[in-house]
Amino acid sequence: MDISHTREQVVLRPGRSVRGSVQLPGDKSVSHRYAMLSGIAEGPSRLENYSTGADCASTLACMRALGVNWEKKGSVIEVEGRGVQLAAPMQPLDCGNSGSTMRMLSGIVAGQKFSSEMIGDESLSRRPMERVIKPLTLMGAKIESREGKPPLRISGSPLKAIDYKLPVASAQVKSCVLFAGLFAEGETRVEEPLRTRDHTEVAVRAFGGKLERKSLGAGSEVRIRGGQRLRGVETRIPGDLSSAAFFLCAAALFPDSQLSVPKLLMNPTRARLLDILMQMGLRISVTELEEINGEMVGSLQVEGGRLQGTKLSGSDSAALIDEIPVLAAIAPYTEQGIEVRDAKELRVKESDRVSAIVTNLRKMGAQVEEREDGMRISGGQQLHGAELDSFGDHRIAMAFAVAALRAEGDTQIQGAETTSISYPAFFQTLEAVVER
Ligand code: S3P
Repeated sequence: MDISHTREQVVLRPGRSVRGSVQLPGDKSVSHRYAMLSGIAEGPSRLENYSTGADCASTLACMRALGVNWEKKGSVIEVEGRGVQLAAPMQPLDCGNSGSTMRMLSGIVAGQKFSSEMIGDESLSRRPMERVIKPLTLMGAKIESREGKPPLRISGSPLKAIDYKLPVASAQVKSCVLFAGLFAEGETRVEEPLRTRDHTEVAVRAFGGKLERKSLGAGSEVRIRGGQRLRGVETRIPGDLSSAAFFLCAAALFPDSQLSVPKLLMNPTRARLLDILMQMGLRISVTELEEINGEMVGSLQVEGGRLQGTKLSGSDSAALIDEIPVLAAIAPYTEQGIEVRDAKELRVKESDRVSAIVTNLRKMGAQVEEREDGMRISGGQQLHGAELDSFGDHRIAMAFAVAALRAEGDTQIQGAETTSISYPAFFQTLEAVVER
């Protein structure tokens, strides 16, 4: 592989195997939650291995605008918690490209004594926000939006607890309601139809908060009481599992691959990817499993093998929603191909990911059937290099950098700088582990 950078274009040459070790910056989902909770906790927090992505920097910038002091020392963020009362922001809270920042933080600002405006970039300004506006309004917040899209103008109000059944399985919406529940009078109950990532529940407890959780079939319910005081924590944020996905899938493309990934997040609500990749033929062993502030962490050793296809639907699609782009990108190289169903949410991510994946795979010569809620990609296909677009979406850029490794000829990815949203060092790290 050869990677040459211009401002916006990256050129990738095919590889032969993936070998070495990849140490990942802190998980994006966990970093967002720790930044928010450490701001409304009392006392100092120390967050080691905080995500290096621009999205998590957006969360920190919003917290600063809300009066939270923090300092960055290398990969450590030291936060001075303010307690539940934040300061009125002097300017709009700029969430950049980050849906997590806008949706989760809206739950916190809704319970404040001031009004705030939340804005985002072009992509975020197209994303649906009625999913948080509805429950927050039921709790008593007053929110104006552009027909359910950003910017959001939130007038902080005294909130009351609600009993809310999520219409879509979304950890961001669940977290928004749970955060607002911390400011509400009474006990808030959230029910989710399918179990989604539970980092908020785990983190609230790490900050000394109380909540109750129960499984409900394939879903779950969480109850949280308002008026709780949180206290700061010291922690090391485990490596980002969704960023690891790109390297694991790259390794899966070559039978000779041998890759290790130390100190990776192994939270069971996030680790479905590992089960699926093992079913597909990747050999994965986990050592040094430990729990850090309620989050499971482990070191992975991975060896390539014959790559089988798979079918993803229902709870698999929900649990793997951020990993589907890269699984789809390696699908043509599997023996039976990959079918993805029940993944309509992909269409309202940073880009319409179904359309972006299908467009790029077809440019590489793949046979793909596009469906409203997913796609079917045939296996046993040899792709060729092509000129691809990131569609301004970090996961699309990284997914197709992986697809390029088994293609015939070079692949150009336009708009590749978008990888900085979650993983600025992605291309350098990939270059270090791909053998030609
Ligand atoms: C996230 C939840 C998911 C995921 C996103 C991060 C989170 O979004 O796609 O990248 O940290 O809670 P949804 O809640 O919209 O499913």
